[in-house]
Amino acid sequence: MLVQKPPMGWNSWNTFGENISEKLLMETADAIVSTGLKDCGYEYVVIDDCWSLRERDKNGRLAADPEKFPHGIEYLSDYIHSKGLKFGMYSCAGTKTCAGYPSSFDHEFVDAQTFADFGVDFLKYDFCYKPSYVSGPLLYHRMGIALKATGRDILFSACNWGSDNVWQWIRSTGAHMYRSTGDINDSLNSFRDIAMSQLPMLGYSAPGCFNDTDMLICGMYGKGNVAFGGCNDEEYKMHFALWCMMASPLMIGCDVRNMTKETLELLTNKELIKLNQDAEARPPFPVGGNISNELVLFRHLENNEYALAAFNFNDAACRRCVELYDIGISNHTGYGLELNEIFTNENLMVRENFFVSLKPHTCKVYKAKVVKL
Ligand code: GLA
Repeated sequence: MLVQKPPMGWNSWNTFGENISEKLLMETADAIVSTGLKDCGYEYVVIDDCWSLRERDKNGRLAADPEKFPHGIEYLSDYIHSKGLKFGMYSCAGTKTCAGYPSSFDHEFVDAQTFADFGVDFLKYDFCYKPSYVSGPLLYHRMGIALKATGRDILFSACNWGSDNVWQWIRSTGAHMYRSTGDINDSLNSFRDIAMSQLPMLGYSAPGCFNDTDMLICGMYGKGNVAFGGCNDEEYKMHFALWCMMASPLMIGCDVRNMTKETLELLTNKELIKLNQDAEARPPFPVGGNISNELVLFRHLENNEYALAAFNFNDAACRRCVELYDIGISNHTGYGLELNEIFTNENLMVRENFFVSLKPHTCKVYKAKVVKL
């Protein structure tokens, strides 16, 4: 199976938009290695939109912009592979990419071969400019088959923003991950709304094909292509913890050549990554009633372990009571939870219920075991 765990890597779009180049990509690959991101599992280095010329070449193939990529794409691909990383690119199911470059509609097989010839290991496949007379799912079937026809292992990353109830059919196209929402921007409201919209859909996300809740904004601090006010470090912790709880692919979106200490610490947090990469990839479930702008999630992990995470999206502090009954542990059973908070290492033994105190825009994430007390 090509994709057993949520894919991890970096994508150019969130910070750089159309300002991409061979130099940026090579420096990014270097930084992924030198900062230790690679050792934590980040492996795909992906160029998003705006990499090609405005016209196909004389053979009808997509061609890289020589000003951005002076030595050609194979040169870059070889460089990224020489670092022990994998290489990703971008195209679109419609007649143009979202930024207006040539796209793969009715060119699926020749484009898939071009990507394979480039040495691509990952293809993000967008959904702009789709002709209205053809079905969206069919276009993902086409590219799914075209990629396989190349004979190369290429991770197929679908990006139709949740259209046509994507979760219901996308696995049948051969895709390995699927964007399920519109584009993220660098704000708490954006990552909160994405998470809330996808929690009920996560039962469809599993090894083989994962729900992609979009590239990470951690470490952008309001700069870059999807800037929108920005977040602080506590808010980025909430964002990263949510993506890990949801088993979303972890595609970094910041400039990894210039990360703060806090950003690097968060993106390399071994406990959160372990949670994200859990082999069973089960969805979390919300605990207790719907309290506006607070969220408690509980998730079964492999090896009889669990995770419990509490999020406060409110501008005021909260003190949330978690009833173990709502998780499935009634008090009369004599069982409770042994908890270890991932960021602070605080340990707790709890029975029946406990309170989580959260400052505004913060979270707590606990590793949990069910124990007889
Ligand atoms: C769409 C996608 C984004 C990005 C841009 C590029 O909006 O959802 O992730 O790929 O296109 O133009």
